Amino acid sequence: MNPLPRHDHYIAGEWTAPADGGYFASVNPATAEPWYEAARGTAADVDRAVGAARAAFEDPRWRDLSQTRRGRLLRNLGDLIGAHAERLARTESLDNGKLLREMRAQLAGLPEYFHYYAGLADKIQGEVIPGASRELLNYTLREPVGVVGAITPWNSPLLLTTTKLAPALAAGNTVVVKPSEHTSASLLALAPLFEEAGFPPGVVNVVTGYGPEAGAPLTEHPGVSKVTFTGSSATGRRIARTCADRLIGCTLELGGKSPNIIFPDADLGSAAMGVIAGIFAAAGQTCVAGSRVLVHQEVYDEVLERVTARAATIRIGDPLEETTELGPLAIAEQLEKVESYVELGRAEGGKVVCGGGRPETGLDGYFYSPTVFTGTDNGMRICQEEIFGPVATVMPFGSEEEALAIANDSAYGLAAGVWTRDVNRVHRMAARLEAGTVWANTYRSMSPMSPRAGFKTSGMGTEHGTEVIREYTRLKSVWVNTSEEPAGDPFILRS
Ligand code: NAI
Ligand code: MG
Repeated sequence: MNPLPRHDHYIAGEWTAPADGGYFASVNPATAEPWYEAARGTAADVDRAVGAARAAFEDPRWRDLSQTRRGRLLRNLGDLIGAHAERLARTESLDNGKLLREMRAQLAGLPEYFHYYAGLADKIQGEVIPGASRELLNYTLREPVGVVGAITPWNSPLLLTTTKLAPALAAGNTVVVKPSEHTSASLLALAPLFEEAGFPPGVVNVVTGYGPEAGAPLTEHPGVSKVTFTGSSATGRRIARTCADRLIGCTLELGGKSPNIIFPDADLGSAAMGVIAGIFAAAGQTCVAGSRVLVHQEVYDEVLERVTARAATIRIGDPLEETTELGPLAIAEQLEKVESYVELGRAEGGKVVCGGGRPETGLDGYFYSPTVFTGTDNGMRICQEEIFGPVATVMPFGSEEEALAIANDSAYGLAAGVWTRDVNRVHRMAARLEAGTVWANTYRSMSPMSPRAGFKTSGMGTEHGTEVIREYTRLKSVWVNTSEEPAGDPFILRS
């Protein structure tokens, strides 16, 4: 058998072998076979990468680059990603099992993120503050924070790297990215494009490896001034604790248990499709998955019927096939987790009305059928904990107040969907839902322009939009005495 292709870290623009020589295999979840090896990073590798990023941060080639030129590099990178989108999309699909069609659409959208922050790069500015006296000029400088450590998950590897990288670079920082150990390939494929776009070596570095071995040292490294993370709430908490000890900032985008709420006056056909898209797209492996479906009792049976009818006909199989609608789960652990939650749901008294097991696909991968529970109560663990798989619970409600109470009865607060033709209701719900994103008569829309924040245990800070620049800059206040008058005796205080 041929040895698997091997990939090293990308540090200071060079492929760099791991300090202790270790590699680990990454698996294609559609076939359950390993398909490449990546460097198994340790603290020594992180130290080299942070050192490279720190040197690049102070290098005049980056530090003294005008903000407009910084933007131009981001624009170049966006264009290059556009030119390589098909290759990158395939790589992502092979690594995490998401549909090639979906990864293609995601990659086709990535240039827009880079272009958006390219345009923002030279609009990052301080302001002049009214002076405390006429002679005192006071202004602010919005400065980059330094080296940013970015830690990303496996569900949308390059998109979730981009939402960190683009604003961090626009603000003038340098970055070390630690991708998920399950999906290192696409970022490694992208790495050479950083220099091709014109970024000096060391501005962006990639260290691969496991969370505790490579991710944790990145958050602990004294050279790192800011951490940005997307992943589970458990790991997010751990990272926040480390950052608290170090008194550095962290941006966290964490899990969810988002409600998708259907009122009787909604277009029920569209609502049912919104439910399907909300929980079965990407096999439910998205932070915004609409995993709690709340349906008004008057239309409960009809909506359930529409959802289960479509769920039962979803075509499951090879994610590279154009006709496939649902691929495998990304990793073996995720399949086990989904299976155990479905068992738990049954044990808690829920009834599986669709799916509830592994489908016949003829492939050895980590496939799981689209699954719908009824008879669940919002207090049950399957309604409170993030499953991160194709599992929906469908629950009835009787009034708007009740829908709100159930929707907000969650430790999470990432997103929510509302389906109704009543425009007043849309705005009432939007105001009272405890979620960073509210969608009405649509689900999963996103754009680089629109801020995304996780309320409650779904996160800290924002991503996307212009506000995110605050997360990657620090504000300095400069006071200048413009007076030619000699300074008076400091011990004589004027009233
Ligand atoms: P995770 O949160 O542990 O991993 C995300 C990233 O954090 C990976 O790059 C990992 O290597 C890194 N990491 C892990 N431990 C770390 C540590 N101590 N210090 C620094 N970095 C560390 O998520 P995992 O294990 O891949 O998936 C577990 C569950 O997390 C899933 O079942 C799902 O419920 C949730 N999840 C949520 C995501 C979201 O977008 N909200 C994305 C991925 C997972
Ligand atoms: Mg993989």
